[in-house]
Amino acid sequence: MSGKIRIGVIGAGSISEMHFSSYSKNPDAVLSAVCDLKEERAKAKAEKYNIPNIYTDYHELLANPDIDAVSICTWNNSHAEISIAALKAGKNVLCEKPLCKTVEEALAVEQAVKESGKTLHVGFVRRYASNTRIVKSFMDAGEIGPIYYAKASCIRKLGNPGGWFSDVERSGGGPLIDVGVHVIDLCWYLMGKPKVKSISGNTYNRLGNRANVKNLRFYKAADYNAELNTVEDMANAMIRFENGASLIVDVSFTLHAKEDELTVKLFGEKGGVELEPKLTLITEKHDTILNSTPQIDNLSFDFVSGFQDEMNFFIEVCQGTKTTLSPVEDGVEIMKILCGVYESARLGKEIYFD
Ligand SMILES: NC(=O)c1ccc[n+]([C@@H]2O[C@H](COP(=O)([O-])OP(=O)(O)OC[C@H]3O[C@@H](n4cnc5c(N)ncnc54)[C@H](O)[C@@H]3O)[C@@H](O)[C@H]2O)c1
Repeated sequence: MSGKIRIGVIGAGSISEMHFSSYSKNPDAVLSAVCDLKEERAKAKAEKYNIPNIYTDYHELLANPDIDAVSICTWNNSHAEISIAALKAGKNVLCEKPLCKTVEEALAVEQAVKESGKTLHVGFVRRYASNTRIVKSFMDAGEIGPIYYAKASCIRKLGNPGGWFSDVERSGGGPLIDVGVHVIDLCWYLMGKPKVKSISGNTYNRLGNRANVKNLRFYKAADYNAELNTVEDMANAMIRFENGASLIVDVSFTLHAKEDELTVKLFGEKGGVELEPKLTLITEKHDTILNSTPQIDNLSFDFVSGFQDEMNFFIEVCQGTKTTLSPVEDGVEIMKILCGVYESARLGKEIYFD
């Protein structure tokens, strides 16, 4: 399908703004419809972006034959259901991360992709960011790997967003499934998507959401509510892969940490990479170790250009000129890892995959 792609956005909360603004800047995208359970939220986006069709029931949006593709920006518990319905309605789908809440749901979405012949692009936005693309080009040229060890941290000293994020029924979990998904996916993608062999994970709920803390601002969900908190506040894991590589990760919504931390590091036989907080390539030449800083616009993940690059890519996928870099199969593998960490933590022992 070449030409302009008519888009419907389902879920008009915080992150949808990045979808709306990115599509609005793409000359091949037309914002045709918006849907949110809260009509006033959908109306506000429709007004801002001049969108003709407003819905509160996503089934009605999907029944509109003049929509080619949808962005799903709803709570995690509706990702699978809406993705499957959209694929059945013949739409290409960009589903925000995480793909869904469980491996069973992920497999059902994968099946729906196969049956529909449409694309489901998982919103692993960091794969599309310029710093990741640069590292990937070095990896693909064989200048760093094979990677045998990776390490990622996404630590918030205070930052449980409340609302649906802290309701396990709607989110599927806390910092692991919310922010851990990004750093785990980045490492796994750059490691060459090795098959997971075993996982040893721990989750903790020792501090609660610390809604009592004063004088320190933090990100809050559109419908912030601190009363319900059924998710972990910290998780860590050691993930082993069949090729012998390993990944260590730790994430938190809150922790008695001195400062927030975002680090993504990969270590290979020929070199190393620090992707976050600031891209650095580590190599050895003429018996000397070099730390190289590329001359590029963004040495770390840039939110606005990352989403713009992702939406631009998705539009080309819908036009048939590109294949998604984040297909449903990858969403399934990441769900296996995330759910594996929760399962290992629940059982209190390492778990193994066939
Ligand atoms: N890629 C990223 O970096 C990134 C960042 C933030 C959030 N996200 C993901 O985006 C999704 C939304 O997060 P958010 O921060 O925008 O949350 P939010 O609470 O701000 O917005 C979610 C919106 O979805 C609406 N909604 C829920 N179920 C619906 C349904 N069945 N039909 C129509 N509307 C529905 C809600 O009314 C709400 O307005 C989550 O899956 C989250 O994990 C991704």
